[in-house]
Amino acid sequence: MSLDKIGIIGTGMLGKAVATRLLKSGYQLTVYNRTREKADKLKTLGASVADSPKDVAKSSDFVITIVKDAFAVEAVSFGKDGIADGKHDGLVVADMSTTNPVSTREIAKKYAEKGISMLDIPVMGGPAQAENGELVIMVGGNKSVYENHKKIFDTIGSKTFYLGENGSGHAMKLAMNLQISILALSLSESITLVRGAGLDPETFLEILNSTYFKTGMSVNKGPKMIKGDFKPTFTLKMMKKDLDTINQAAEKFNLSLPMTTLANKLYQDAIENGFGELDYTGILEFVKKTSMK
Ligand SMILES: NC(=O)c1ccc[n+]([C@@H]2O[C@H](COP(=O)([O-])OP(=O)(O)OC[C@H]3O[C@@H](n4cnc5c(N)ncnc54)[C@H](OP(=O)(O)O)[C@@H]3O)[C@@H](O)[C@H]2O)c1
Repeated sequence: MSLDKIGIIGTGMLGKAVATRLLKSGYQLTVYNRTREKADKLKTLGASVADSPKDVAKSSDFVITIVKDAFAVEAVSFGKDGIADGKHDGLVVADMSTTNPVSTREIAKKYAEKGISMLDIPVMGGPAQAENGELVIMVGGNKSVYENHKKIFDTIGSKTFYLGENGSGHAMKLAMNLQISILALSLSESITLVRGAGLDPETFLEILNSTYFKTGMSVNKGPKMIKGDFKPTFTLKMMKKDLDTINQAAEKFNLSLPMTTLANKLYQDAIENGFGELDYTGILEFVKKTSMK
C-alpha cells in the first residue's frame, strides 16, 4: 500500500493549511472543495484539483475530510459522486472535522458496510500549527489502521493520541473546544473588567502570564485581543457550531453542562450582533458591547 497518495476534501482555513504541509513534505495530493476556487489556490504548490469527492478517492489511498460538520461529512462521503463511490482496495478515510461522536460512529459504520475503513482524527491547533506540522491529533477507530498510517500523522502533527473506537477522537476534541470557548469568554470578561477599572489590559496580561494560571490563549491570543485584531483563524460562528455539537453530544450521554449551555447562548447572541465572521476571540467585542450599562 502506498502512503504517498493523499486526498483532502475541504480546503477551507484548516484544510488548506494541512494540504500545504503535506505538499511541502513531498506527498502527492489531490484536493476537492465545494467552492472550487479555494481548491484551485493549491495548484501552484503542486496539488491536483478533482471535480468530486469520488475522484479524490479514486486517486488517493488516504482521504482526509476537513469540512464544517457531520452533515457536510455525510454529504461528501455518501452524497452524489461521494467518497464511497470512489472505493478501491485499501482506501482509508479520516475525518478531521470537529463533529458529534455519535454521528461519527454512524458514518464509520456506513463506511465499514461498504468495506472502507474510517478513522476520526480531529485536531487541536489551527492553520499556523498545521502548516508547521505541529497539530495535536486525537484518533478514534481501528488501531492497526491508525498504526499503518503513522507516517502521515507524524508529518502534520507533533503529537498523536490513539484513544480507542470510532468517536473517541471526536468526543475528546469536544472536551478541548469546551475549554477554548469558555477560556475566550473568561479572558474577554477580565479584559473588560480591567478596562472598566481604568487599568491597562496589557498589565493584566503581563501579571496573568507571570502566574501558573496563564494559558496558551492568554499568551498567544491575549495581546491580539487587546489590540482588537480579530482576523479569523477559527471563526466565532464555527465555535458556536462546536458548542451546539458539545450540547448535542452531552444530551446523548445523558448529561447537562451548565457553562456550555450558557456559553452557547452568548456565542449565539454574538452572532446575532454581527460578530460571527470574526475570530472566536472576537467574543470580546460582544462582551464589550453588552457590558455597557
Ligand atoms: N480553523 C481551525 O483552527 C480549526 C481547528 C480545528 C478544527 N477545525 C475544524 O475543521 C473544520 C473546518 O474548519 P475551517 O476553520 O477550515 O472552516 P472553513 O474555513 O469555514 O471551511 C469549511 C469547509 O467546509 C466546507 N463545507 C461546509 N459545508 C459543506 C457541505 N455541506 N458540503 C461540502 N463541504 C462543505 C466548506 O466548503 P466551501 O468552501 O464550499 O464553503 C469549506 O471547505 C470544522 O469542522 C472546524 O470545526 C478548525
